[in-house]
Amino acid sequence: MKKTVLGKKPGAFPPYLFRDLDKKRREAVNKGKDVISLAVGDPDLPTPEAIAKVAAKEVLKPSNHCYPQGRGTPLLRRAIAEWHKERHGITLDPETEVLTLIGSKEGLAHLPFALINRGDTVLIPDPCYPAYKTGVLLSEGKIKRLSLNERNGFLPDLDALPASFFKGVKLLFLNYPNNPTGAAADLKFYAKAVAAAKKYGFWIAQDAAYSEIFFGKPSPSIFQIPGAKDVAVEFYSVSKTYCMTGWRLAWMIGNAGAVAALTKLKDNLDSGQFNAIQKTAVFCLKNHGRLVSPIREIFRKRADFFIGALKKAGWDVFQPGATFFVWARPPAKTSSLDCVYRILEQASVLITPGSGFGPSGEGYVRFSLTAPEKRIKEAAARISVMKWK
Ligand SMILES: Cc1ncc(COP(=O)(O)O)c(C=O)c1O
Repeated sequence: MKKTVLGKKPGAFPPYLFRDLDKKRREAVNKGKDVISLAVGDPDLPTPEAIAKVAAKEVLKPSNHCYPQGRGTPLLRRAIAEWHKERHGITLDPETEVLTLIGSKEGLAHLPFALINRGDTVLIPDPCYPAYKTGVLLSEGKIKRLSLNERNGFLPDLDALPASFFKGVKLLFLNYPNNPTGAAADLKFYAKAVAAAKKYGFWIAQDAAYSEIFFGKPSPSIFQIPGAKDVAVEFYSVSKTYCMTGWRLAWMIGNAGAVAALTKLKDNLDSGQFNAIQKTAVFCLKNHGRLVSPIREIFRKRADFFIGALKKAGWDVFQPGATFFVWARPPAKTSSLDCVYRILEQASVLITPGSGFGPSGEGYVRFSLTAPEKRIKEAAARISVMKWK
């Protein structure tokens, strides 16, 4: 039998991290334990009712039942461009610089097929959201890790890297606000990234899936840097912003050539997202402020409480600027995985090992504050009384 692509790369596609963790959770639950999961970045909050009501109406309209326009309806692409104008002060052409996606994971994983050739090098941050690897491996690119460390606030120090580091690099993935660290990037950082991309001739794919869950200043867009459109694309999603992870709608903006290339690929792969959901997304964007403020406030309160509790218990916690993640090291030196198992065993709380996001995540763990407040408080109380020495 012919070898499959995945079969040609044994070990390249380990079982998706969260699948293994969920198996452990089920085993503990089967033993009768009351397990609190702070492992997966999937908001526990329901989609706001106002959004679901709009969707319910749209679902009933026969005019929405046909194949959608793959790259997104003109109505949605216009709404996306208007939202970015208002939110970031940037101008986008809805015809050529906006593409809707079936979730940003889909777009991020397909992008390398559109932008790189076999053998090209792609820089992925370490640690990072695991999906960046997928498209690079399937399009037979080479992965090179770009270490993020706490000293630099988990921003890569692009200036400090020699020209030889960028040899053969065709694409750099960035992700701010960052999963798993909660780090936020400022415009100074984006200016450096754009300058490096121009100097060495690579694309930037900046993943802004957590753009609206910020605690201080609103997260900027890379396109606030003049000339960024020459080299960059940026991904946004309704998933975390409006607690709509199951609805599968996101978009990519930026360089018209990159938008055209991914559009062409996707025209050959899928037929876009259900019109009713596209119309619902228009409602979300037009009512953004009132929909997102209460969600952001809930995550901010949770983070304040949980970080305080961990610090009191002797943890070394990175102060997040955004997202609903807390990235931390336990009071005693232990591996990420050992820490996760000890917490599951002793506190019946499931979290994610930092090493699952890349070798530089070793020693850290990630808490996802996507459980009701009462459960988060209970988890903090259980972890606080653990003995580490
Ligand atoms: C950094 C990051 N980017 C993208 C995604 C995917 O989001 P979407 O639901 O839009 O596919 C996730 C999901 O957890 C994520 O953490």
